[in-house]
Amino acid sequence: MSTAKTSGNKVDTGRRRFLIAATSVVSAVGAGFVAVPFLESWEPSERAKNAGAPVEVNFKKLETGRLLTVGWQSKPVWVLKRTKTQLADLPKNDDRLRDPNSDVASQQPPYAKNEYRSRKADLLVLVGICTHLGCVPTYRPDIGPEDLGADWLGGFFCPCHSSRYDLAGRVFKGVPAPLNLLVPDYYYVNDDVILIGESGGKA
Ligand code: FES
Repeated sequence: MSTAKTSGNKVDTGRRRFLIAATSVVSAVGAGFVAVPFLESWEPSERAKNAGAPVEVNFKKLETGRLLTVGWQSKPVWVLKRTKTQLADLPKNDDRLRDPNSDVASQQPPYAKNEYRSRKADLLVLVGICTHLGCVPTYRPDIGPEDLGADWLGGFFCPCHSSRYDLAGRVFKGVPAPLNLLVPDYYYVNDDVILIGESGGKA
């Protein structure tokens, strides 16, 4: 059984099918953001290496407030277990968002068109690619940081041209990105496992 050591934590990699946090993601979040450990990763399996194959993710060991990045169709996909506070703060952003109600249908499956943009409230699943020109935003759960302002309640910040998204992946007004971050198809295989890339099965 192998282990991967990231962000100061050992992560069990003995179980299968996780594809990983791209190295590019690690580098993209690098300098300037030191306060928040957030990235966990696992080695890719043969199945996950297949382009387009659905990716099964067991998030049982993922702590609340932390972000897991997996690879799917050569893209980073984030799995974030949001805290109760993070969920409670989401409506406070609504007036400052371009599409607070997720009305642009292309950006999420129908089952994620809700206040959390997810099948279950706590677990957020997003394609981690900025809807402006495709950079990988950084996870910034810190509240009111100096560089993002006192009204920042946590979210995702794109370092390329300063687009901002909240913790449901909803884009703020006044930034270059035109759309909310994409929610991929996924469903719960059981209480601890999701399958990314398919919408069938249990809700
Ligand atoms: S690519 Fe993200 S703001 Fe331009």
